Amino acid sequence: MARALTVLGIESSCDDTASAVVRGHDVLASVVYGQTALHADFGGVVPEVAARAHAEKLDHCVEDALSAAGLHLADLDAIAVTAGPGLIGGVLSGVMCAKGLAAATGLPLIGVNHLAGHALTPRLTDQVAYPYLMLLVSGGHCQFLIVAGPDKYRRLGGTIDDAPGEAFDKTARILGLSQPGGPAVETSGIGGDPRAFDLPRPLLNQPGCDMSFSGLKTAMLRARDAVVAAKGGLTRLDQADLSASFQAAIADVLVEKTRRALAIYLAIKPVTPCFAIAGGVAANQVIRGRLMQLCASLDTDFVAPPLALCTDNAAMIAYAGAELLAFGQRDDLTLSARPRWPLDKTAAPMLGSGKKGAKA
Ligand code: KG4
Ligand code: ZN
Repeated sequence: MARALTVLGIESSCDDTASAVVRGHDVLASVVYGQTALHADFGGVVPEVAARAHAEKLDHCVEDALSAAGLHLADLDAIAVTAGPGLIGGVLSGVMCAKGLAAATGLPLIGVNHLAGHALTPRLTDQVAYPYLMLLVSGGHCQFLIVAGPDKYRRLGGTIDDAPGEAFDKTARILGLSQPGGPAVETSGIGGDPRAFDLPRPLLNQPGCDMSFSGLKTAMLRARDAVVAAKGGLTRLDQADLSASFQAAIADVLVEKTRRALAIYLAIKPVTPCFAIAGGVAANQVIRGRLMQLCASLDTDFVAPPLALCTDNAAMIAYAGAELLAFGQRDDLTLSARPRWPLDKTAAPMLGSGKKGAKA
């Protein structure tokens, strides 16, 4: 068997500065410096602020990852870096840092698609066999992919506007709950009636796996305003009912679209059928529980990597880099940052740009 590669990963495509060292399937170190406090006053990620913070933190982050792994640059086999998609300033900071390290050490440089990092995580954590079906669902992404190899992706559909995490965050603001909105809405909805408010299930009546979540936010605003107009304010129970109803609407859409994506995936007759989820929204217990049930009914394994590896991190970039290197990819110092970089080059581009930048 080939020796397990030891790869340094660098990730700076959004608001997390991250570095990690991965050897084979072992995460030797994974360091993430968040920027939540820097952006808190602005209600979203400010690209210039993010880029500056990445540039300031990247060197330290790499040093911390190497020292936590107990390794030196000379112990590495390669340097992998997110080269897109994402906010251009952040991606550029990471790419320049990785190029500097590659030039100084002579190590191979591998530019990794951020979405490939998420999509390959089930192989890092659970050694899932190709091909598997993946749902990436976070504050910036929402798409179904059949993952057939480190550079072989088929996108079956995705959001045509907002990502579900954005809708959770907006809903939390509408209901006066804290940020990030996902966990706040989930907690608030415990004990609430998911049928109390009749919210739309966008695109459910249309064929295919595409989704839309922006209309749901508007519907939530109207539902809240109606309660406030009738009662003069929101009680704790109103908040719970609104949260539970919103969560049920998102879950219904994700479950039905997953059912359709699974039908396409299972038709290719994978030997060990597997469905994996990643992204912050995958932490939601109601959504996760319903997707698990669906998979069980279709004799399909369900894999959800631990949250720290589901959300943005550099271990996934290091691991994807190792797979790509073994696959023959090696970039040079002309590697450029690609703010838009779809994984499936044959799929029609998705429109729009979310709070986390351009969608792929
Ligand atoms: O993957 P992630 O950490 O970052 C990116 O978007 O790349 O995802 C963050 C998103 C936020 O919008 C957050 O509200 C949502 O994931 N989220 C959740 C939960 N935990 C985090 N959404 C629903 N339920 C949760 N428990
Ligand atoms: Zn991400």
